[in-house]
Amino acid sequence: QAEGEGPQPLAGRHALVTSGPTHEPIDPVRYIANRSSGKQGHAIAAALARLGAAVTLVSGPTRQPDPAGCRVVHVETAREMLAACEAALPADVAVCAAAVADWRVAAEADRKLKKDGSGPPALALTENPDILATLSQAGPRRPALVVGFAAETGDVLAYAAAKRARKGCDWIVANDVSPGTGTFGGSDNTVHLIRADGSDSWPTMSKEAVAARLAEAIAGQFERR
Ligand code: CTP
Ligand code: CA
Repeated sequence: QAEGEGPQPLAGRHALVTSGPTHEPIDPVRYIANRSSGKQGHAIAAALARLGAAVTLVSGPTRQPDPAGCRVVHVETAREMLAACEAALPADVAVCAAAVADWRVAAEADRKLKKDGSGPPALALTENPDILATLSQAGPRRPALVVGFAAETGDVLAYAAAKRARKGCDWIVANDVSPGTGTFGGSDNTVHLIRADGSDSWPTMSKEAVAARLAEAIAGQFERR
């Protein structure tokens, strides 16, 4: 243990973290994306590394610097993110914090779409693979602990509990992204940790503090095994 480091309860564990948005190409110069900053996922990767885990961070395009002590795999699309995650297995824990695009353009154009006088093109969409569900249902390659996120509006706890069951992950970190909460792209987060047997609501705190508390909860789970 190097000088200045705290306890390393996750030493010897491999943690896989996804972060950021994905970019889904329309043509060589255009893409579909979302406003995810990657702040929360990157902070989780850093927090797990501080507790001693070997961390693989699979990140979509963000403005975040690569976190210290993590192996970072940079990807653009959901399909690339899934492939990078599968290549990173085995892992003891997976935390899927990425805002994966739900849909991609069904037929990416290999040339720039041009205004040809026939009006705007219609973009047919197709569904992207679900990385969290794939990891949760990976059979013998399933990480022992799989954690997802759920950004919801309305009945946050009920939606997130249903999402946890549907995807087959162990925990869901749910947050309320209604307008006015400032969560998406902001610095603070108000989350609920949902397990199979109940949930805890955490006070509003910085995304770094959420990351540290989640990393502690993950370490606690491994200590209990
Ligand atoms: N997720 C994923 N791959 C996808 C979509 C979502 O890994 N293609 C993960 C996210 O990283 C997050 C969790 O699934 O951990 C929930 O994402 P969310 O967008 O809330 O769920 P969806 O199933 O896409 O449902 P919704 O229709 O509410 O967007
Ligand atoms: Ca989604």
